[in-house]
Amino acid sequence: MRASLDQEWVGAAPINLVVNAIYERTTRHYGDRGVRYVHMEVGHLGQNIYLQCISLGLACVVVGAFYDEEVKRIVGGAGEPLYVIPVAVPAEPWKL
Ligand SMILES: Cc1cc2nc3c(=O)[nH]c(=O)nc-3n(C[C@H](O)[C@H](O)[C@H](O)COP(=O)(O)O)c2cc1C
Repeated sequence: MRASLDQEWVGAAPINLVVNAIYERTTRHYGDRGVRYVHMEVGHLGQNIYLQCISLGLACVVVGAFYDEEVKRIVGGAGEPLYVIPVAVPAEPWKL
């Protein structure tokens, strides 16, 4: 939560999914344009997480505001963090 500018939903969620991008895996095939493809793919991934959450009665929000170096230190692993996605049971059930 502190690494994401004290956004309280990050602290409250039982899990936070962190999406890291390893740009080189894509730019090695597509050159500089691969950076664009990585961002498109992360958007698709985020959308799929929203859809899955809705279907399971869960709630999530993509978080882009965070300190990169802090998230890297906490999560470790390779690449650049692009999304932190808190997932939780909503305070009130969805009414669709
Ligand atoms: C790239 C990106 C970054 C975002 N970062 C944050 C964030 O740091 N904190 C947050 O609460 N919501 C964040 N959001 C979510 C938006 O604030 C908003 O909830 C979401 O886009 C849905 O908006 P709508 O309900 O008006 O359609 C982000 C959304 C996107 C697409």
